[in-house]
Amino acid sequence: MCGIIGIASNKQVSSNIIESLKKLEYRGYDSAGIATISNGEIDEKKCTGRVAALEKIIFKTPSLGNLGIGHVRWATHGAPSKINAHPHSSEEVSVVHNGIIENSTILKKNLEKTGYKFKSQTDTEVITILLTDFLKKFDLVLAINKTLEKLIGSFALGILFKKHNNIIVGARRGSPLAVGYGHNENFLGSDSYALKSMTNKITYLDDGDVCILSNDKIIFYNKNGMKINKRIQTLSSDKQTADKGDFKDFMSKEINEQKFSTKVCIKEYVNHLKKDINLYNFPIEPKNIDKIVIIGCGTAYHACLAAKHWFEELTSIEIETDVASEFRYRKIKFSKKNLYIFVSQSGETADTFAALDLCKKNEVKTCSVVNAVESSIARSSDFILPIHAGPEIGVASTKAFIGQMLVLYILALKISKIRNEIPKAEYITKISNIKKLPDLINKTLKCESKIKIIAKDVYLSKGFIFLGRGPSFPIALEGALKLKELSYLHAEGYPAGEMKHGPLALIEEGLPVVILAPQDRYYEKTISNMQEVIARGAKVLLITNEENNIISENIRFSIEVPKTDNQLTTFLITIPLQLLAYHIASLKNLDIDKPRNLAKSVTVE
Ligand code: F6R
Repeated sequence: MCGIIGIASNKQVSSNIIESLKKLEYRGYDSAGIATISNGEIDEKKCTGRVAALEKIIFKTPSLGNLGIGHVRWATHGAPSKINAHPHSSEEVSVVHNGIIENSTILKKNLEKTGYKFKSQTDTEVITILLTDFLKKFDLVLAINKTLEKLIGSFALGILFKKHNNIIVGARRGSPLAVGYGHNENFLGSDSYALKSMTNKITYLDDGDVCILSNDKIIFYNKNGMKINKRIQTLSSDKQTADKGDFKDFMSKEINEQKFSTKVCIKEYVNHLKKDINLYNFPIEPKNIDKIVIIGCGTAYHACLAAKHWFEELTSIEIETDVASEFRYRKIKFSKKNLYIFVSQSGETADTFAALDLCKKNEVKTCSVVNAVESSIARSSDFILPIHAGPEIGVASTKAFIGQMLVLYILALKISKIRNEIPKAEYITKISNIKKLPDLINKTLKCESKIKIIAKDVYLSKGFIFLGRGPSFPIALEGALKLKELSYLHAEGYPAGEMKHGPLALIEEGLPVVILAPQDRYYEKTISNMQEVIARGAKVLLITNEENNIISENIRFSIEVPKTDNQLTTFLITIPLQLLAYHIASLKNLDIDKPRNLAKSVTVE
């Protein structure tokens, strides 16, 4: 993962590097560092922990200079420590890196044989040493090319040179990298979000590109070493802001925001006057689709699983879902009559991008459901469906999950209409129900006071089980994932019918079990499974809809979400689970927006 930044300016750069690194912290936050060129020397400062810690160091001993690079790390090679933090500098160069150098062990051994000594356990330091070595024999451009030729794996790099003290070199293979154009200054960054406060003019590097930037120009080379011109894009301005406002943290803001983000998304896709969905120019004629494959990772994968149910209910198309890290290595039978959909909030997830790339190499049609419309996944797919959720900063995904499900649901409805598989009246009713969703989310959010009480009752438990059937099963998985990542508690999501095949052995007196039982066609079956866990001593939290007639004195708590279309109920039962994970983590005093060991954008395999 990791985030990198570089600034070449006609004024001091360290404070802007620090501000940009704060924006990149979603990519990694176990250590941070900066290097500037000051008085003709490389001045490197780094520390473990957050950018705030680095800022304090710089406050005491300023990093001077008009040229600098910075880094936030998510450890891959070597523990989070000051020595392993980036930049990695020699006398001659300083390097920040996002990605993984897969042949670093062999490169390191060879360099050690020639007398070089390594300070860190990172894969990145081989780049520093290789470059230092090649600079002794070749000019700058050749030394860079020779170094990059040696590397196997993925990288986005920012490099400073002691002897070429007015330039920063950027290079990309596999990991994203953008440059930004300013007035008497130019920028390099892992994403446009980090650069947005300084410029809205951006160019994305393609795989194999190298750039050399100074404060007044940027030169690009392609993978064959040819000088190239690249298109400058103007970034769109976000309607939703990326600050916390009056909220304690981003996650509580983002959970709350779902009533607005869904409204924005619905407005983009649904024409209430025409009672239709605005989706045209499909990359493949919906009537001719044989199969849809929906692919994502983590929470985004759970959205894929929920969507599978809707596509199956609304269309006759065969639907397959896959985790991107599995899909990319399977022996897939690709077909031009299939549509491959990639779901990703960041649009930069390495596994999802690799799975998309595999589809592109097999010349099949692709579509991406993304939040970041300027991301690598969005730019590489044939058709983009933005979720319009606005910036999501909390590492645990909430409003993006709801947005991903919403767009996939809208897509399923539209494809069903084009294929004449949904009766007109039903289509119109479903469209008017979608319009009510933001309001129903708002009503559901009111369960927060009850969730706080429930959280107090269960937060000291060792583990949790979440059960659901049909489209509630992916929500059970999502509830368990949210709790795991935020509260570091063991939590499992299961299809309720699977309990008797083994997991029932886990049930013991007082174990919290969250039952997702909206009144759909699975309802009675799930309630029977609930009775089975109650009979074995579980402490049950039932999540169902209003007007539920289940009365069981053995249910410890119940939450009732408003009644609506069954398919939309899936969205509503997600909200109490987000709040439960949030309040349990809060009672445990954990860092809600930045859980340990994680990062928002997973740009390594
Ligand atoms: C969990 C979470 C992750 C992401 C996953 C994919 O709360 O956020 O599981 O969903 O890393 O990320 P994107 O959607 O950016 O591809």
